[in-house]
Amino acid sequence: MSTSTATAVSHPNIALIKYWGNRDHELRLPENGSISFNLGGLFTQTKVVFDSKFDTDSLTVNNERIQNSGLKRVSQLLNVVRELAGRQYFAQVISTSNFPIGAGVASSAAAFAALSLAASHALGLSLSEKDLSRLARRGSGSACRSIPAGYVEWLPGRSDEDSYAISIAPSTHWDLVDVIVIVEANHKAVGSTAGHALAYTSPIQKARIADAPRRLDIGRNAILQRDFEALAEIVEVDSNLMHAVMMTSNPTLMYWEPATISIMKVVPEWRLEGIPVCYTLDAGPNIHLIVRRDYVNLVKKKLDNLPGIQQILVAPVGEGTHLIPDRS
Ligand code: DP6
Repeated sequence: MSTSTATAVSHPNIALIKYWGNRDHELRLPENGSISFNLGGLFTQTKVVFDSKFDTDSLTVNNERIQNSGLKRVSQLLNVVRELAGRQYFAQVISTSNFPIGAGVASSAAAFAALSLAASHALGLSLSEKDLSRLARRGSGSACRSIPAGYVEWLPGRSDEDSYAISIAPSTHWDLVDVIVIVEANHKAVGSTAGHALAYTSPIQKARIADAPRRLDIGRNAILQRDFEALAEIVEVDSNLMHAVMMTSNPTLMYWEPATISIMKVVPEWRLEGIPVCYTLDAGPNIHLIVRRDYVNLVKKKLDNLPGIQQILVAPVGEGTHLIPDRS
């Protein structure tokens, strides 16, 4: 080989039951399982070119050349792929996304899921969904959940071999939509990787982990039975628990902005009015409103009256990571 290439597309995902804290940081083995759905319409497209002429890896994200820690993280994942394939070529990675990066929409998830598929395919590997999910996990934990389609559960496992995500229901199973309310589009100060490493400093983390199987059971059953009330309650509790851990870590991680709190307060009231909506937040100030599709317009109208909202993105449940034909 002198050159070989592949391009993959992946969606970010929103966790309904959250991943926060690792038992093994290097392998990204999580302390607890998590459940998410992929965000259709939002995507990262990544092209990987391996060439025997390259003397280093390179990374371009949204037309900007990335060096330092971003490139190092990509090279580390490429090293795993090179090792698996038994080929030692450097790569050029070109990635574009159509949503804001680093602002509470899981950009690293889509990025590492797409990179895993494109890089492994370009080096001639044909990995199973399970092995692709395990590979993506090494780049970013939540990326393992962007590999399978629809509603997804990450089985935490205890080792590299048994920590991966599976689809628990197809995207067509239930018409939920993520209405993403951007109140702050800038790159967050403390990212998830640094945050996971602080989780154990919170006295609440132990209790959060111990109770995770119960929350996972309730969340999974609510999805399988399309029971919105049950899902809404557990999704909000799970998000609040994770943020309680963040706020009680040392140093403190406080992601909320005033606009975040006003939305968190009003959403349960909307639910009491009969609207199937609940909130969840990742490591950032932006709010994800999980809404039944037939109520999306009403929820957007109600959001119009609230202050501090910069942008609203709407994402239905999406498919898994897939290859697309090369265009160059
Ligand atoms: C708050 O997967 O972004 O979004 O493995 O360090 O890349 P790294 O962390 P990441 O953590 C996601 C944390 C979360 C909750 C979730 O998506 O489950």
